[in-house]
Amino acid sequence: MAKAIRTVKTIVKDISEPLAGIKVLVLEDEDQWDLPPFRPGAHIDLHLGKKLVRTYSLCNAPHENSRYVLGVKKEDLGRGGSRFIHEGLEVGGRIDVSLPRGGMDFDQENMNIFVAGGIGITPFVSAIRHMENQSRANYVLYWSSNGPASIPEMIRPAIDAGRVHISDTRHDPFPDYAAIVSAHGQHSKVFCCGPEPMLRAFEQAVSSWPTERVHIERFSIAKPDIAGSDDTFKVVLSRSGREAVVEPGANIVHMLEELDADISFSCEGGICGACRTPWIEGPPVHNDRVLTPAEREKDVIVCVAGCAGPRLVLDA
Ligand code: FES
Repeated sequence: MAKAIRTVKTIVKDISEPLAGIKVLVLEDEDQWDLPPFRPGAHIDLHLGKKLVRTYSLCNAPHENSRYVLGVKKEDLGRGGSRFIHEGLEVGGRIDVSLPRGGMDFDQENMNIFVAGGIGITPFVSAIRHMENQSRANYVLYWSSNGPASIPEMIRPAIDAGRVHISDTRHDPFPDYAAIVSAHGQHSKVFCCGPEPMLRAFEQAVSSWPTERVHIERFSIAKPDIAGSDDTFKVVLSRSGREAVVEPGANIVHMLEELDADISFSCEGGICGACRTPWIEGPPVHNDRVLTPAEREKDVIVCVAGCAGPRLVLDA
């Protein structure tokens, strides 16, 4: 069976450092073809090396898909992706990238409240550039950072139009999320992206909101406990016929890598969607924060999956 196209070859066209520790990459197709289309707030995986796949939000507007623009903060205590980008990547380098995934659905009539922490601004850059391109003003951004804002020039028209509130928590008060969301009311739609403690505070502030009006974008997470895996089960790759036994508590990602499964992994925490795979037999126990109930009928986020039956058969 022919393999589906999962990655696109790009070339690093430009690298800049608008603030110490923040790099902005511009990727283009080698032959100047348009890149696969994407939605505002979407993200892609960068294949930086064998087993080094990392997920970043696209910062350009969807109508600008002759290139992909990414903002990457160097995380010295991270898992190595941002260090590679900051220290090992050069203009002219080649990177395979995944097809774009995810994105944000805005309220067309009511206000859209964007709340960003630090480099969590990146999905909102794409969203704001999209809104500005459509001459839509029904949004406001609250952006706090522990230091100067990293990439404000990317949203300069929105700042100049007074639609952005920037705070530096070294001297400004920490944002009061409950006050921010209640000022706009539950007919608004709220979006948040930032470090985990901030997301937890924000989730607390919107705990009474209808879930369909809340969009939380995570870029890091502690590896979750895998529920539903108290029993041993077999993971089977239907295309190659390879299989392995997954003992309770075993790392299914490592087992799939040993089976040489044609599945990409990035966050390994069930939040980025890179490892989404159709399942044939299970049923899987879903532990991700990516799929809707309807999507779980067909697909599984394997990096955090368990299995309620003796065999988890993947269409891979
Ligand atoms: S690798 Fe990110 S969701 Fe599985």
